[in-house]
Amino acid sequence: MPNSHPDDSIATTVSGHQITLAQWPTQIPYRHGSLLDAILSAGVPFPHACSAGDCGQCKCKLVDGQVDMEAFSPEALTAQEAARGEILACRAYPKGPVSISWLADDDEACFTIRYGQARVQSVDVLGETGYLRLKLQIMGAALQFAPGQFIRLELGDMPSRCYSLVNRPGEQVLELLVRRRANGLYSDYMENKLRVGEKVNFEGPYGEAFWRGRHDGPVVIAAIGGGMSFAISVLMAALNDRQRELTVWQFSAGRPLLQDEQLKKLASKYGFVYQGFQCEAQGLDHLLTAFHSLDVDVSQLKMYLSGDPAAMPHLAKEALSMDLDPENLIAEPFYPSKVRFPDSWWSQLTSRLRFWR
Ligand code: FES
Repeated sequence: MPNSHPDDSIATTVSGHQITLAQWPTQIPYRHGSLLDAILSAGVPFPHACSAGDCGQCKCKLVDGQVDMEAFSPEALTAQEAARGEILACRAYPKGPVSISWLADDDEACFTIRYGQARVQSVDVLGETGYLRLKLQIMGAALQFAPGQFIRLELGDMPSRCYSLVNRPGEQVLELLVRRRANGLYSDYMENKLRVGEKVNFEGPYGEAFWRGRHDGPVVIAAIGGGMSFAISVLMAALNDRQRELTVWQFSAGRPLLQDEQLKKLASKYGFVYQGFQCEAQGLDHLLTAFHSLDVDVSQLKMYLSGDPAAMPHLAKEALSMDLDPENLIAEPFYPSKVRFPDSWWSQLTSRLRFWR
């Protein structure tokens, strides 16, 4: 189980008596008191209410390590939940380094939408991949969000655009991967006009397609074309959280695969399956072939799907036809706000799924 961030470039290490919280970018020192006391002292907006083991608001998953538990109400933490490794942070006293994941509600990302400003730190062209990496230094407090969520960015006097966040939650620098498009308003502006230090507006986080840490079964992360930034964010959360049967697919039509070598190295280091597919058109055939070759219990599978909006209806439909539970399909269609899906079937599907529209 990894105790360090899966991306070596921003790795953190466990040393001494530390608390690792999956949703927080830095480790939290523990000196005395309850787990909740230490977390709150570090400024983490951890869910809690009674601080006395009665309400269950501070329930979380003990991913690694051991704790002593003080008395608590059985309504706040049932025997089944305790058997699954869940604890109450307000009643837990670490016996050494611990790793936890907060699980107040796996299907809700309860972060306040913020209207903020940031300054451009850097804009880099990522080789021949067809992407730019934009880094923005937030003015004010760091942004909290769930891995997989996105922000709406405003540059100059152009209409705003939505981009997945690739940085970890709670970091001071926002990182976005932006596809370079021929005559693309935003990518052209970023590449040719945006200056380091320039002030930009953002709002967020948005999106209901994000990492569900409570799921114990196998996970597939599939990205088609421009969906890779969402996939990277979810992958980092998956690796930081705990080990699962994890498979990552990247499908790219007519462009080099994004961060292909880095993903291969991560797969080798952390023991997950990674496959990159260079394919034609929307990659539907490749996705179906890959899907059919999966050797997992599909009824337990959670699939994170992102990519080209044009291909998403077909991809989602095929995923569901493979007996995937609709609750277990977490899809990010990357539609800008207020744009409606064109056909009624897609509208029906998206109303059953947890899509942001
Ligand atoms: S805060 Fe109420 S049970 Fe922990």
